Parts: sequence; C-alpha cells; structure tokens
Amino acid sequence: MKPVTGQKPHISVAPMMDWTDRHCRYFLRLIAPHVRLYTEMVTTGALIHGDKDRFLRFHDAEHPIALQLGGSDPKDLATCAKMGEDYGYDEINLNCGCPSDRVQSGAFGACLMKEPDQVAACVESMAEAVQIPVTVKCRIGIDDHDSFEFLDNFVGKIAEKGCKTFVIHARKAWLKGLSPKENREVPELNYNRVEEIKAKHSDLNIILNGGVKTIEGIFSVLSLRKQGSCETSMKDPRLRGESITPFDGAMIGREAYQNPYFLAEVEKEIFGNKQTLSREDIVLAMASYAEQQIEHHDVPLKSITRHMIGLFHGQKGGRAWRRALSTLPHEAEAYESGAKADIILQALEERQSRKAA
Ligand SMILES: Cc1cc2nc3c(=O)[nH]c(=O)nc-3n(C[C@H](O)[C@H](O)[C@H](O)COP(=O)(O)O)c2cc1C
Repeated sequence: MKPVTGQKPHISVAPMMDWTDRHCRYFLRLIAPHVRLYTEMVTTGALIHGDKDRFLRFHDAEHPIALQLGGSDPKDLATCAKMGEDYGYDEINLNCGCPSDRVQSGAFGACLMKEPDQVAACVESMAEAVQIPVTVKCRIGIDDHDSFEFLDNFVGKIAEKGCKTFVIHARKAWLKGLSPKENREVPELNYNRVEEIKAKHSDLNIILNGGVKTIEGIFSVLSLRKQGSCETSMKDPRLRGESITPFDGAMIGREAYQNPYFLAEVEKEIFGNKQTLSREDIVLAMASYAEQQIEHHDVPLKSITRHMIGLFHGQKGGRAWRRALSTLPHEAEAYESGAKADIILQALEERQSRKAA
C-alpha cells in the first residue's frame, strides 16, 4: 500500500470522555504528529460557570486540536466557541452523538438529532462568533429515527448554516435502555448510510467514525483500494472495502486509546512519515513530561501513566509494563500524588527484562 499523497486526509482520534484529556493527547501526539486530536466533551455550563482554564488549557504540541462542546443554547455555545478560539483551538466541534442520561437531561448530545433547527441555530451562532471551523459529530440516527431521510434532513439543515464537516459515528443510538458503552457496541455499524450521505452531499467533508481499527480499514474508508476491511466481522459488502464514494477521513476511537502505538502505523502508512518515535523513545519523552508536570503543576503521576498502559499492547513484555504501571510492585507509589516520574522508567526496565527473559 502506498501512503496517501496530495492533500493529507483527516485522520483523527475521537473525543473520549475521561480518556482524551490533555495528558493523553500529549502522549498520542508524540506517537502521531499528523493526526487531529479532539478534547473530551466539555459542557457550556462547565466553561461558563466553572474553572475554564482547567478544561481549556493544552500544550502547544497538541495542534491540530479540536475542542468538543456539549450544549444546546446558541448563545452559550457561541460564548464557549469564542473561548476555545481565544485559547488557540483549531476547530470547535458540537457533540450531537452522546446518549448518556446526564447529557439527555441537559437536552444535548444525541437527543439533539431530533432538533435539527436547534442545532442549525447553534452552529450558525458559533460560526458567527469564531473564524475557525465549526463542525458537528453525530450518529446516523436515534431510536426509531434512523432513516436516510432523517439523517439527510439533519445534515442538510446544519450545512446550510455553514457547517462543512460532519463526523458521523456510523451507528444509531438508543436513548433509553442502553448504557453509553452498550450504545457503542449494540447498534450495528452501517457505513452504507454514511456513504449515501456523502454521495448526496459531496461538497461536505464527511468523516467516518466507528469500528475503524486497522490500516486496511483506513485505506478502505478513503477508498484507496478495493479490498481490506474495517472490521472483518462486518457482513455488509461495502464494509469490506467495496466502497465507491471515498470519505474525507476517518476518526479512530477506542483502538487509539487501547492500542495507541497503532497511531505510529497510521503515521507511517497513511502519512508516509518515516520518523516516528519508537515505543521506548516515547516512554523517555513521557518520563520527562511527567517530571515537569509533577514538579511545576502538581499533577499526580497516575493522571499521566493511566493513558500509557496500552503502549506495549501485543508486544513481548507488554503485560509486565501494564502491571508495573498500574499494579504491583509500584501501585502505592505510582498512585500516590507526588510519586516520581522515575516509576515510568522502572516500568520500562521491567518490561525490557521480561522481554529478554
Ligand atoms: C470512554 C469513551 C468516552 C467517549 N466520550 C465521548 C465524548 O465525550 N464525545 C463524543 O462525541 N464521543 C465520545 N465517545 C464516542 C467516541 O468518540 C466514538 O464515537 C466511538 O467510540 C466510536 O468510535 P470507535 O469505534 O473507533 O471507538 C466516547 C467513547 C468512549 C469509548
């Protein structure tokens, strides 16, 4: 397979609550210089009434980075979009895909899919407030509203107000009866539906999300070759890479977190980057990042190491690494505020000796 040439495709790591915080993003950025990163969803209430610096600050190295907002009030969203722009974010993304009860009680997230006029008003208001792109992340539908017409109407109304990029999680959400986790697993993926949307709205950037976890899958999403699959278990022939309409990019969620070094492969294969760092180099860089965060910002070591547990996923000694970072023998130390960054280096040594054994 040849790396993508010409304009770089949009390959991103999904917004993931409790996972893609600033430490995680710093770590992922070391692995993959070209992928776009998204924050966790931040609600307008948290930004307007809470400690906005806590939610918004990020490291310069994290660019390109998008701020994902959760909310449904056009004025509040505009205020928060402007805050994001002032902090230096490259994109503001509106969450229309989260089905959690907490989000539903605030009448935003996935339940906004039933309110396309409201979302259009939100997008219009945000786009007026900032110069950077305003984008939307949604599902293909919710509950029994899962037809092509439903999604087409949603996308069309919002596009009219200036949103040019939609990240579409290719499964619907059930608002009642399923947990957020189940809502990422139970409703079937339907790439076909997203492809129909791309075919109808060819002028829009349509980024496919959901179940993308192999290089072949990404090539297939970009329609750069005819075979290969995003998920081998998929029955739909188009899911096996027989797509004809290329999407404009792919967003990767769980795989990027659970097996983060997959992103180095993405760098090499998709972006043609020959200078990716080795896992060991990343550990060294993270140890010095951790030292600095502990010393100057009073960050507990655990807040950083918890994102690094999957780094040696599938590698010899991977289990020793995981254990050294998360459980014995350093548990008490590593999990205590004030623990020293050396623990990261000790975990690497432990992994190296297990690997050699
Ligand atoms: C732990 C976790 C937290 C998530 N939080 C968010 C969120 O804050 N905003 C959002 O739009 N999606 C969120 N998602 C959904 C992901 O962005 C993504 O749409 C979903 O995981 C499907 O992609 P994947 O199959 O590549 O994982 C979350 C997913 C996970 C696993």
